[in-house]
Amino acid sequence: MTPQQQDQLRSAAQATLRANDRGGYAVPSPRLYPFQWNWDAAVNAVGWQTFDEPRAWQEIETLLTGQWANGLLPSIVFHRPADSYFPGPQEWGCDHLTPPTTSISQPPLLATMVRRMRDHSRDPQVDQRLRTIVPKIVDWHRWWYRDRDPEQTGLVVTYHPWETGSDNSPAWDEPLARVPATPRSYQRRDTGVVDGSMRPHKAEYDRFVYLLDFFRDCRFDPRRIYDECPLRIVDFALNAILLRANLDLAHLCEALGLHSDAAQLRDWHQRGAAAIATLWSPTLRRHVSLDTRSGKPLPSRTHAGFLAWYAHVFTGESGPQRQLDLLAELDEFLGATRHALASTHPTDPGYDPRRYWRGAVWPHINWLVAEGLAEHGHAAQAQRLRDDTLALVQAGGLFEYFAPDTGEGLGGPDFSWTAAITLILLQTR
Ligand code: GLC
Repeated sequence: MTPQQQDQLRSAAQATLRANDRGGYAVPSPRLYPFQWNWDAAVNAVGWQTFDEPRAWQEIETLLTGQWANGLLPSIVFHRPADSYFPGPQEWGCDHLTPPTTSISQPPLLATMVRRMRDHSRDPQVDQRLRTIVPKIVDWHRWWYRDRDPEQTGLVVTYHPWETGSDNSPAWDEPLARVPATPRSYQRRDTGVVDGSMRPHKAEYDRFVYLLDFFRDCRFDPRRIYDECPLRIVDFALNAILLRANLDLAHLCEALGLHSDAAQLRDWHQRGAAAIATLWSPTLRRHVSLDTRSGKPLPSRTHAGFLAWYAHVFTGESGPQRQLDLLAELDEFLGATRHALASTHPTDPGYDPRRYWRGAVWPHINWLVAEGLAEHGHAAQAQRLRDDTLALVQAGGLFEYFAPDTGEGLGGPDFSWTAAITLILLQTR
Protein backbone atom coordinates (compact mmCIF):
# COMPACT_ATOMS: atom_id res chain seq x y z
CA MET A 1 0.00 0.00 0.00
CA THR A 2 1.43 3.41 -0.94
CA PRO A 3 1.62 6.17 1.70
CA GLN A 4 -1.15 7.96 -0.18
CA GLN A 5 -3.40 4.90 -0.03
CA GLN A 6 -2.66 4.60 3.67
CA ASP A 7 -3.69 8.22 4.21
CA GLN A 8 -6.92 7.67 2.30
CA LEU A 9 -7.75 4.58 4.30
CA ARG A 10 -6.96 6.35 7.56
CA SER A 11 -9.25 9.24 6.67
CA ALA A 12 -12.05 6.86 5.69
CA ALA A 13 -11.70 4.97 8.96
CA GLN A 14 -11.73 8.14 11.04
CA ALA A 15 -14.77 9.40 9.13
CA THR A 16 -16.58 6.12 9.81
CA LEU A 17 -16.06 6.37 13.56
CA ARG A 18 -17.15 10.01 13.51
CA ALA A 19 -20.25 9.17 11.47
CA ASN A 20 -21.17 6.34 13.87
CA ASP A 21 -20.72 8.58 16.92
CA ARG A 22 -23.99 9.14 18.74
CA GLY A 23 -22.47 11.40 21.37
CA GLY A 24 -20.06 9.55 23.66
CA TYR A 25 -20.50 6.14 22.06
CA ALA A 26 -20.18 4.72 18.55
CA VAL A 27 -22.80 2.37 17.19
CA PRO A 28 -21.15 -0.67 15.51
CA SER A 29 -23.07 -0.09 12.28
CA PRO A 30 -25.88 2.45 11.91
CA ARG A 31 -28.84 0.29 10.92
CA LEU A 32 -27.81 -3.22 11.89
CA TYR A 33 -26.58 -2.44 15.43
CA PRO A 34 -27.90 0.94 16.64
CA PHE A 35 -26.66 0.83 20.29
CA GLN A 36 -23.37 0.47 22.17
CA TRP A 37 -21.85 -3.02 22.28
CA ASN A 38 -19.42 -4.07 24.99
CA TRP A 39 -16.38 -5.59 23.27
CA ASP A 40 -16.90 -3.36 20.23
CA ALA A 41 -16.60 -0.31 22.51
CA ALA A 42 -13.31 -1.62 23.92
CA VAL A 43 -11.83 -1.96 20.42
CA ASN A 44 -13.37 1.29 19.23
CA ALA A 45 -11.79 3.20 22.10
CA VAL A 46 -8.32 2.11 20.96
CA GLY A 47 -9.21 3.24 17.44
CA TRP A 48 -10.42 6.62 18.69
CA GLN A 49 -7.21 7.09 20.62
CA THR A 50 -5.19 7.17 17.39
CA PHE A 51 -6.71 10.56 16.59
CA ASP A 52 -8.86 11.81 19.49
CA GLU A 53 -7.81 10.67 22.96
CA PRO A 54 -10.53 12.42 25.02
CA ARG A 55 -13.17 10.79 22.81
CA ALA A 56 -11.50 7.40 23.38
CA TRP A 57 -11.90 7.64 27.16
CA GLN A 58 -15.45 8.82 26.72
CA GLU A 59 -16.31 5.63 24.80
CA ILE A 60 -15.30 3.61 27.86
CA GLU A 61 -16.89 5.87 30.44
CA THR A 62 -20.16 5.76 28.50
CA LEU A 63 -20.05 1.95 28.32
CA LEU A 64 -19.53 1.75 32.07
CA THR A 65 -22.77 3.68 32.70
CA GLY A 66 -24.49 0.40 31.79
CA GLN A 67 -22.78 -1.62 34.54
CA TRP A 68 -25.10 -3.43 36.97
CA ALA A 69 -24.75 -3.12 40.74
CA ASN A 70 -23.53 -6.75 40.86
CA GLY A 71 -20.63 -5.92 38.49
CA LEU A 72 -22.06 -7.34 35.24
CA LEU A 73 -21.02 -5.23 32.26
CA PRO A 74 -23.78 -5.99 29.74
CA SER A 75 -23.29 -6.94 26.10
CA ILE A 76 -25.43 -4.03 24.88
CA VAL A 77 -26.27 -0.68 26.42
CA PHE A 78 -29.45 0.73 24.88
CA HIS A 79 -28.64 4.39 25.43
CA ARG A 80 -31.45 5.52 23.13
CA PRO A 81 -34.43 3.66 21.66
CA ALA A 82 -34.25 2.36 18.07
CA ASP A 83 -36.70 0.05 16.38
CA SER A 84 -34.39 -1.48 13.75
CA TYR A 85 -33.07 -4.05 16.26
CA PHE A 86 -34.51 -7.15 17.91
CA PRO A 87 -34.44 -8.07 20.82
CA GLY A 88 -34.72 -4.76 22.66
CA PRO A 89 -34.54 -4.07 26.43
CA GLN A 90 -38.14 -5.08 27.06
CA GLU A 91 -37.52 -8.54 25.68
CA TRP A 92 -34.53 -8.87 27.97
CA GLY A 93 -36.64 -7.74 30.94
CA CYS A 94 -34.20 -4.89 31.55
CA ASP A 95 -36.16 -1.87 30.34
CA HIS A 96 -36.52 -0.58 33.92
CA LEU A 97 -32.75 0.04 34.15
CA THR A 98 -31.15 3.41 33.41
CA PRO A 99 -29.73 3.01 30.86
CA PRO A 100 -31.51 -0.17 29.71
CA THR A 101 -29.26 -3.13 28.87
CA THR A 102 -29.22 -6.83 28.08
CA SER A 103 -28.79 -9.37 30.89
CA ILE A 104 -25.67 -11.09 29.50
CA SER A 105 -22.09 -9.93 29.03
CA GLN A 106 -19.50 -10.21 26.25
CA PRO A 107 -15.81 -11.17 26.01
CA PRO A 108 -13.93 -9.04 28.57
CA LEU A 109 -11.47 -7.24 26.31
CA LEU A 110 -11.83 -3.97 28.17
CA ALA A 111 -8.96 -4.22 30.68
CA THR A 112 -6.47 -5.10 27.95
CA MET A 113 -7.60 -2.20 25.78
CA VAL A 114 -7.45 0.21 28.73
CA ARG A 115 -3.94 -0.90 29.57
CA ARG A 116 -2.91 -0.31 25.99
CA MET A 117 -4.52 3.12 26.05
CA ARG A 118 -2.64 4.05 29.21
CA ASP A 119 0.63 2.90 27.60
CA HIS A 120 -0.07 5.09 24.53
CA SER A 121 -1.60 8.02 26.40
CA ARG A 122 -0.48 11.60 25.91
CA ASP A 123 -2.60 12.80 28.82
CA PRO A 124 -0.49 13.53 31.93
CA GLN A 125 -3.66 13.19 34.05
CA VAL A 126 -4.58 9.77 32.66
CA ASP A 127 -4.28 8.00 36.01
CA GLN A 128 -6.94 10.32 37.42
CA ARG A 129 -9.44 8.86 34.98
CA LEU A 130 -8.22 5.36 35.69
CA ARG A 131 -8.96 5.72 39.39
CA THR A 132 -12.64 5.64 38.47
CA ILE A 133 -12.46 3.23 35.53
CA VAL A 134 -10.20 0.49 36.90
CA PRO A 135 -12.20 -0.43 40.07
CA LYS A 136 -15.30 -0.84 37.86
CA ILE A 137 -13.48 -3.27 35.61
CA VAL A 138 -12.24 -5.14 38.69
CA ASP A 139 -15.89 -5.42 39.80
CA TRP A 140 -16.73 -6.89 36.42
CA HIS A 141 -13.99 -9.52 36.68
CA ARG A 142 -15.21 -10.32 40.18
CA TRP A 143 -18.69 -10.87 38.72
CA TRP A 144 -17.28 -13.36 36.19
CA TYR A 145 -15.62 -15.40 38.90
CA ARG A 146 -18.44 -15.18 41.46
CA ASP A 147 -21.46 -15.75 39.22
CA ARG A 148 -19.91 -17.73 36.39
CA ASP A 149 -17.48 -19.95 38.28
CA PRO A 150 -19.33 -20.72 41.50
CA GLU A 151 -17.51 -24.05 41.85
CA GLN A 152 -14.15 -22.30 41.56
CA THR A 153 -12.79 -24.33 38.69
CA GLY A 154 -10.68 -21.42 37.40
CA LEU A 155 -12.76 -21.16 34.19
CA VAL A 156 -16.00 -19.24 33.67
CA VAL A 157 -19.15 -20.50 31.94
CA THR A 158 -21.44 -18.80 29.50
CA TYR A 159 -25.13 -19.41 28.80
CA HIS A 160 -25.74 -17.69 25.48
CA PRO A 161 -23.89 -17.78 22.14
CA TRP A 162 -24.25 -13.99 21.98
CA GLU A 163 -22.19 -13.73 25.15
CA THR A 164 -19.27 -15.47 23.43
CA GLY A 165 -19.27 -12.78 20.73
CA SER A 166 -19.04 -15.53 18.08
CA ASP A 167 -22.78 -15.87 17.86
CA ASN A 168 -23.27 -18.70 15.36
CA SER A 169 -19.95 -20.52 15.58
CA PRO A 170 -20.37 -24.19 14.60
CA ALA A 171 -18.86 -25.00 18.01
CA TRP A 172 -22.24 -24.15 19.57
CA ASP A 173 -24.36 -26.22 17.16
CA GLU A 174 -24.57 -29.33 19.28
CA PRO A 175 -25.25 -27.74 22.69
CA LEU A 176 -27.65 -25.25 21.10
CA ALA A 177 -29.63 -28.05 19.46
CA ARG A 178 -30.51 -29.32 22.94
CA VAL A 179 -32.05 -25.94 23.87
CA PRO A 180 -35.81 -25.88 23.22
CA ALA A 181 -36.99 -23.60 20.40
CA THR A 182 -39.05 -20.71 21.72
CA PRO A 183 -42.77 -21.38 21.36
CA ARG A 184 -43.52 -17.67 20.99
CA SER A 185 -43.52 -15.62 17.82
CA TYR A 186 -41.11 -12.75 17.33
CA GLN A 187 -40.01 -10.48 14.54
CA ARG A 188 -36.34 -10.50 13.54
CA ARG A 189 -34.93 -7.20 12.28
CA ASP A 190 -31.42 -8.20 11.17
CA THR A 191 -32.52 -9.93 7.97
CA GLY A 192 -34.34 -6.77 6.91
CA VAL A 193 -31.00 -4.96 7.02
CA VAL A 194 -28.54 -7.50 5.54
CA ASP A 195 -29.10 -10.52 3.35
CA GLY A 196 -30.29 -13.61 5.25
CA SER A 197 -27.49 -15.73 3.71
CA MET A 198 -24.99 -13.83 5.89
CA ARG A 199 -26.94 -14.17 9.15
CA PRO A 200 -27.78 -17.02 11.56
CA HIS A 201 -30.59 -19.43 10.63
CA LYS A 202 -34.09 -19.24 12.14
CA ALA A 203 -33.54 -22.48 14.12
CA GLU A 204 -30.65 -20.77 15.91
CA TYR A 205 -32.65 -17.60 16.55
CA ASP A 206 -35.50 -19.63 18.06
CA ARG A 207 -33.05 -20.88 20.66
CA PHE A 208 -31.34 -17.53 21.18
CA VAL A 209 -34.76 -16.15 22.10
CA TYR A 210 -35.63 -19.11 24.33
CA LEU A 211 -32.50 -18.45 26.37
CA LEU A 212 -33.06 -14.75 26.91
CA ASP A 213 -36.63 -15.46 28.00
CA PHE A 214 -35.26 -18.08 30.40
CA PHE A 215 -32.89 -15.57 32.08
CA ARG A 216 -35.73 -13.10 32.52
CA ASP A 217 -38.05 -15.79 33.91
CA CYS A 218 -35.32 -16.76 36.41
CA ARG A 219 -35.18 -13.09 37.47
CA PHE A 220 -31.46 -13.25 36.64
CA ASP A 221 -30.82 -15.38 39.74
CA PRO A 222 -27.20 -16.55 39.16
CA ARG A 223 -27.51 -19.78 41.12
CA ARG A 224 -30.70 -20.87 39.39
CA ILE A 225 -29.30 -20.08 35.96
CA TYR A 226 -26.09 -21.98 36.75
CA ASP A 227 -28.08 -25.00 37.89
CA GLU A 228 -30.83 -25.01 35.29
CA CYS A 229 -29.81 -23.25 32.07
CA PRO A 230 -29.98 -25.81 29.24
CA LEU A 231 -26.88 -24.30 27.62
CA ARG A 232 -23.75 -24.03 29.74
CA ILE A 233 -20.37 -23.93 28.07
CA VAL A 234 -16.80 -23.05 28.86
CA ASP A 235 -15.85 -21.02 25.79
CA PHE A 236 -12.12 -21.22 25.22
CA ALA A 237 -11.96 -17.81 23.47
CA LEU A 238 -13.87 -15.99 26.19
CA ASN A 239 -11.71 -17.55 28.89
CA ALA A 240 -8.54 -16.75 26.94
CA ILE A 241 -9.61 -13.11 26.69
CA LEU A 242 -10.48 -13.01 30.40
CA LEU A 243 -7.17 -14.56 31.43
CA ARG A 244 -5.22 -12.05 29.39
CA ALA A 245 -7.36 -9.23 30.78
CA ASN A 246 -6.58 -10.37 34.35
CA LEU A 247 -2.88 -9.78 33.69
CA ASP A 248 -3.43 -6.35 32.17
CA LEU A 249 -5.82 -5.35 34.93
CA ALA A 250 -3.34 -6.50 37.56
CA HIS A 251 -0.74 -4.26 35.92
CA LEU A 252 -3.15 -1.29 36.02
CA CYS A 253 -4.04 -1.98 39.66
CA GLU A 254 -0.36 -2.06 40.60
CA ALA A 255 0.19 1.27 38.85
CA LEU A 256 -2.64 2.75 40.94
CA GLY A 257 -1.49 1.17 44.22
CA LEU A 258 -4.40 -1.30 44.36
CA HIS A 259 -2.17 -4.15 45.48
CA SER A 260 -4.68 -6.60 46.93
CA ASP A 261 -6.80 -6.41 43.75
CA ALA A 262 -3.65 -6.99 41.69
CA ALA A 263 -2.79 -10.07 43.75
CA GLN A 264 -6.31 -11.46 43.29
CA LEU A 265 -6.14 -10.91 39.52
CA ARG A 266 -2.76 -12.62 39.22
CA ASP A 267 -4.15 -15.54 41.19
CA TRP A 268 -7.13 -15.81 38.83
CA HIS A 269 -4.73 -15.84 35.91
CA GLN A 270 -2.56 -18.52 37.41
CA ARG A 271 -5.42 -20.79 38.37
CA GLY A 272 -7.14 -20.19 35.04
CA ALA A 273 -3.98 -20.96 33.07
CA ALA A 274 -3.66 -24.29 34.92
CA ALA A 275 -7.33 -25.11 34.32
CA ILE A 276 -7.35 -24.08 30.67
CA ALA A 277 -4.45 -26.46 30.00
CA THR A 278 -6.95 -29.30 30.49
CA LEU A 279 -8.85 -28.06 27.41
CA TRP A 280 -5.87 -28.90 25.18
CA SER A 281 -6.53 -31.64 22.63
CA PRO A 282 -3.32 -33.36 21.46
CA THR A 283 -5.01 -34.81 18.40
CA LEU A 284 -6.59 -31.52 17.33
CA ARG A 285 -3.41 -29.58 18.28
CA ARG A 286 -5.34 -26.79 19.99
CA HIS A 287 -7.53 -25.98 22.96
CA VAL A 288 -11.24 -26.63 22.59
CA SER A 289 -14.35 -25.36 24.35
CA LEU A 290 -16.28 -27.59 26.72
CA ASP A 291 -19.98 -28.33 27.06
CA THR A 292 -20.36 -28.59 30.84
CA ARG A 293 -23.89 -30.02 30.52
CA SER A 294 -22.84 -33.08 28.51
CA GLY A 295 -19.24 -33.02 29.73
CA LYS A 296 -18.10 -33.23 26.10
CA PRO A 297 -15.46 -31.14 24.33
CA LEU A 298 -16.64 -29.02 21.39
CA PRO A 299 -14.13 -29.86 18.68
CA SER A 300 -15.24 -27.59 15.78
CA ARG A 301 -12.23 -26.36 13.85
CA THR A 302 -12.47 -22.62 14.52
CA HIS A 303 -9.98 -19.77 14.90
CA ALA A 304 -10.64 -19.58 18.67
CA GLY A 305 -7.66 -21.80 19.60
CA PHE A 306 -5.21 -19.27 18.15
CA LEU A 307 -6.01 -16.92 21.04
CA ALA A 308 -3.86 -19.12 23.30
CA TRP A 309 -0.81 -16.95 22.58
CA TYR A 310 -2.71 -13.79 23.43
CA ALA A 311 -3.90 -15.42 26.69
CA HIS A 312 -0.34 -16.25 27.80
CA VAL A 313 -1.25 -19.77 28.86
CA PHE A 314 1.65 -21.74 27.39
CA THR A 315 3.22 -22.21 30.78
CA GLY A 316 4.82 -25.34 32.19
CA GLU A 317 6.73 -28.14 30.52
CA SER A 318 4.20 -28.82 27.78
CA GLY A 319 4.26 -25.18 26.60
CA PRO A 320 6.97 -25.35 23.89
CA GLN A 321 5.56 -28.48 22.20
CA ARG A 322 2.01 -27.15 22.30
CA GLN A 323 3.14 -23.94 20.66
CA LEU A 324 4.75 -25.92 17.84
CA ASP A 325 1.56 -27.93 17.39
CA LEU A 326 -0.57 -24.81 17.31
CA LEU A 327 1.78 -23.20 14.78
CA ALA A 328 1.30 -26.25 12.55
CA GLU A 329 -2.47 -25.86 12.85
CA LEU A 330 -2.13 -22.15 12.06
CA ASP A 331 -0.18 -23.02 8.92
CA GLU A 332 -3.07 -25.18 7.82
CA PHE A 333 -5.49 -22.30 8.33
CA LEU A 334 -3.22 -19.87 6.48
CA GLY A 335 -2.88 -22.26 3.57
CA ALA A 336 -6.56 -23.19 3.36
CA THR A 337 -8.10 -19.90 2.22
CA ARG A 338 -6.89 -16.98 0.14
CA HIS A 339 -7.46 -14.51 2.96
CA ALA A 340 -6.62 -15.24 6.59
CA LEU A 341 -7.92 -16.02 9.14
CA ALA A 342 -11.05 -18.01 8.36
CA SER A 343 -13.18 -18.17 11.52
CA THR A 344 -13.92 -21.82 10.66
CA HIS A 345 -11.62 -24.08 8.66
CA PRO A 346 -13.05 -25.16 5.25
CA THR A 347 -12.77 -28.85 6.23
CA ASP A 348 -15.16 -28.36 9.16
CA PRO A 349 -18.69 -29.60 8.37
CA GLY A 350 -20.05 -26.29 9.72
CA TYR A 351 -17.99 -24.15 7.31
CA ASP A 352 -19.86 -21.46 5.42
CA PRO A 353 -17.65 -18.66 4.05
CA ARG A 354 -20.37 -16.02 4.03
CA ARG A 355 -22.30 -16.78 7.16
CA TYR A 356 -20.86 -14.74 9.97
CA TRP A 357 -18.77 -16.85 12.43
CA ARG A 358 -18.91 -20.00 10.34
CA GLY A 359 -16.04 -19.07 8.04
CA ALA A 360 -15.82 -15.32 7.49
CA VAL A 361 -12.67 -13.38 8.45
CA TRP A 362 -13.07 -10.99 11.40
CA PRO A 363 -10.56 -8.11 11.58
CA HIS A 364 -10.47 -7.77 15.37
CA ILE A 365 -9.78 -11.49 15.90
CA ASN A 366 -6.96 -11.28 13.37
CA TRP A 367 -5.49 -8.41 15.35
CA LEU A 368 -5.76 -10.14 18.73
CA VAL A 369 -4.22 -13.34 17.37
CA ALA A 370 -1.44 -11.27 15.75
CA GLU A 371 -0.72 -9.49 19.04
CA GLY A 372 -0.32 -12.81 20.84
CA LEU A 373 1.86 -14.27 18.07
CA ALA A 374 4.12 -11.20 18.07
CA GLU A 375 4.44 -11.32 21.87
CA HIS A 376 5.75 -14.89 21.55
CA GLY A 377 8.26 -14.09 18.80
CA HIS A 378 6.22 -15.41 15.86
CA ALA A 379 6.66 -12.21 13.89
CA ALA A 380 6.13 -13.58 10.37
CA GLN A 381 2.73 -15.10 11.13
CA ALA A 382 1.69 -11.95 13.01
CA GLN A 383 2.63 -9.82 10.02
CA ARG A 384 0.74 -12.09 7.64
CA LEU A 385 -2.46 -11.57 9.66
CA ARG A 386 -2.01 -7.81 9.84
CA ASP A 387 -1.25 -7.52 6.13
CA ASP A 388 -4.20 -9.69 5.16
CA THR A 389 -6.53 -7.62 7.33
CA LEU A 390 -5.47 -4.31 5.83
CA ALA A 391 -5.59 -5.70 2.30
CA LEU A 392 -9.14 -6.97 2.86
CA VAL A 393 -10.30 -3.63 4.17
CA GLN A 394 -8.59 -1.70 1.43
CA ALA A 395 -10.09 -3.79 -1.35
CA GLY A 396 -13.43 -4.66 0.24
CA GLY A 397 -14.36 -1.60 2.32
CA LEU A 398 -14.95 -1.15 6.06
CA PHE A 399 -17.33 -4.10 6.37
CA GLU A 400 -18.19 -6.17 9.40
CA TYR A 401 -16.45 -9.33 8.09
CA PHE A 402 -15.00 -10.74 4.87
CA ALA A 403 -15.30 -13.88 2.76
CA PRO A 404 -12.06 -15.86 3.17
CA ASP A 405 -12.18 -17.14 -0.41
CA THR A 406 -13.13 -14.05 -2.43
CA GLY A 407 -12.32 -11.24 0.02
CA GLU A 408 -15.79 -9.79 -0.44
CA GLY A 409 -16.88 -7.39 2.34
CA LEU A 410 -19.95 -8.85 4.11
CA GLY A 411 -22.44 -8.07 6.88
CA GLY A 412 -22.88 -4.49 8.00
CA PRO A 413 -21.15 -1.67 6.06
CA ASP A 414 -19.27 1.28 7.64
CA PHE A 415 -18.43 -0.83 10.63
CA SER A 416 -16.90 0.83 13.68
CA TRP A 417 -14.52 -1.82 14.97
CA THR A 418 -13.32 -2.56 11.45
CA ALA A 419 -12.50 1.16 11.21
CA ALA A 420 -10.81 1.06 14.62
CA ILE A 421 -8.67 -1.97 13.73
CA THR A 422 -7.70 -0.28 10.47
CA LEU A 423 -6.48 2.77 12.40
CA ILE A 424 -4.57 0.60 14.88
CA LEU A 425 -2.89 -1.42 12.12
CA LEU A 426 -1.97 1.67 10.14
CA GLN A 427 -0.49 3.25 13.24
CA THR A 428 1.79 0.30 13.96
CA ARG A 429 3.16 0.05 10.39
C1 GLC B 1 -22.60 -9.35 16.30
C2 GLC B 1 -21.29 -10.06 16.64
C3 GLC B 1 -20.80 -9.57 18.01
C4 GLC B 1 -20.68 -8.06 17.98
C5 GLC B 1 -21.98 -7.39 17.54
C6 GLC B 1 -21.84 -5.89 17.31
O1 GLC B 1 -23.61 -9.71 17.17
O2 GLC B 1 -21.42 -11.44 16.61
O3 GLC B 1 -19.58 -10.17 18.33
O4 GLC B 1 -20.29 -7.56 19.23
O5 GLC B 1 -22.42 -7.96 16.34
O6 GLC B 1 -20.84 -5.62 16.38
